[in-house]
This record gives sequence, structure tokens and C-alpha cells, in this order.
Amino acid sequence: MSRDLEGRSIIVTGAGRGIGETMARGLAAQGGALVIADINGEAAEAVASGIRDSGGKAVGVSADVSDRESVKGMIAKAVEANGRLDVIFNNAGIAQTKPFLSISDEDWRRVMDVNGLGVLICMQEAIRQMIAQGRGGKIINTASIAGKQGYEPLAHYSASKFAVVALTQAAARAFGKDQINVNAICPGVVATDMWKVIDKGFVDEGLTQRDNQAFETFSADILLGRPSKSDDLVGVACFLASSASDYMTGQSLVVDGGMVLI
Ligand SMILES: NC(=O)c1ccc[n+]([C@@H]2O[C@H](COP(=O)([O-])OP(=O)(O)OC[C@H]3O[C@@H](n4cnc5c(N)ncnc54)[C@H](O)[C@@H]3O)[C@@H](O)[C@H]2O)c1
Repeated sequence: MSRDLEGRSIIVTGAGRGIGETMARGLAAQGGALVIADINGEAAEAVASGIRDSGGKAVGVSADVSDRESVKGMIAKAVEANGRLDVIFNNAGIAQTKPFLSISDEDWRRVMDVNGLGVLICMQEAIRQMIAQGRGGKIINTASIAGKQGYEPLAHYSASKFAVVALTQAAARAFGKDQINVNAICPGVVATDMWKVIDKGFVDEGLTQRDNQAFETFSADILLGRPSKSDDLVGVACFLASSASDYMTGQSLVVDGGMVLI
């Protein structure tokens, strides 16, 4: 097995389950020293413990990405455990299915707080740490195909993911001089618990008749013929964390099996 990430200090937020967990396991398998961060601290510790059991390096931390003090604590934990911070995956996010005219002010604020403000806070605090270290670093944000196209009835979620793409581009322009690469991954339809939430929302809103119908409908035209598994994102995550991507910044890479062609 390749050990491209040997010794790199890497934080993954929202790594207590789903895409974040799978990416973190893949990064640890390539030698990364991981901080597994999640608002669900028990889930984070369980993932970290699983990585340690299979010979990898990981610590779990409870962190809410939308709370600046919590994020500062998460970064301090990475520095305490691994001496510095080289890479952060700002992956934590939430989704909600709501028809356009039903989105309340509170719905908007809740989704934007985690997906928009949470990414901004994590980027700011990680970049401050990387600049203080003086040897560059890598920021990788999880956006979405919903950050490339507006989807109904996920308008506020889509807006939050457009925000992630914008933050990625703006920070790439600002911190290239500091040798900080800022890129994003845009997954498509990934079979995780998040899609169960989205799918249930379709049924609750009367937009579909049965479980899994929305997931199947969204997946129907994928060029590679199947929805994504979290594993499909590990290769690009390792690439963006490694020196192989040192000359890339400001990009939002679509990894969706062929849904959004741009
Ligand atoms: N599943 C998909 O089809 C899909 C597609 C495109 C993009 N994404 C994005 O990928 C990322 C991960 O999605 P997933 O499918 O693994 O979701 P998931 O719901 O399975 O996992 C998300 C994790 O984030 C954690 N989390 C939620 N709010 C948090 C907060 N405030 N602070 C810290 N942790 C928090 C949750 O506890 C959970 O462990 C999200 O940003 C999501 O928007 C998912």
C-alpha cells in the first residue's frame, strides 16, 4: 500500500460517519495522523479507535464547526497530538428537504450556519494556524453537485454549497502566496445517512410516495450506472491531501459518476 501521507497532520470534520469517516479511514491508511472531529463526540472517538485498532494514528474530538471556540479547540487538539496542522477537510454538513416556498428563515439559518459559516470558521482558524507554522498547507472543503446547480427542493442546501465553492475560490486567491492550496470536492448522490434524511423529507413533504424513491430518481441518469459509495471519494481525497496536487488551487472537483458535466 502507498504511504503518500506519512506523518501528515490531518483534521476531518463530520468524520463520525458517512463520507467523512470513509475519507478519514483512507487518509489514515496512507499514513496520515488524523483528528476525527464530529459534533457527535462518541461517534468521533469510535472511528478514531477503529483506525488505531487497524494500526493507524487517530484521535477523536467533539467539535461543532459552527462554534468558533469549539473549532479553535479542535485545531489545538491536532497541534497537541501531531505537532502541527498540514491538512483540513471541512466536510461536516447537514441537509434538509423543503419545497422552495416553504423554506423558513430558521431553516435557512440552520443550514447556512453549519454548511456556510461552519466552513468559513474552520477555514479561518486552520489558515491562521498554517500561516503561523510558515510552511503552507492544504484546505479541502466538501461542497456538492448542489454547489454547481440549484436543486429543488434543496434550494437552501444548494445555496450553502455554492457558498462553499465561493469560499474555496476566494481563499485560494488570498492564500496562494502562503503556499496554502484550497480546493473542494463535489460529490454526487452518495449512499449515506444524509440521503436517508433527504429521502424521508421527500416522503414527508408528499413529493415522493415511498422510501428510497428520491434516491433512485436522482441516481437514474448517472453515466457510470450507479449511485456513489463513500469509498468513491477516497482517491480524490488522498490526492488533494498529498503533494501530487501541490500545483492545484481554487478548484471544485466534481466526483459524481457523471451527473454534472462542466
Ligand atoms: N451524501 C451525499 O449524497 C452528499 C452529496 C454531496 C455532498 N455531500 C456532503 O458531504 C458531507 C458529508 O455528508 P454525509 O453524506 O457523509 O453526511 P452524514 O449526515 O452521513 O454525516 C455528516 C456528519 O457530520 C456531522 N455534523 C453535522 N453537523 C455538524 C457540526 N455542526 N459540527 C460537526 N459535525 C457535524 C454529523 O454528526 C455526521 O457525523 C456534507 O457536507 C454533505 O453536504 C453529501
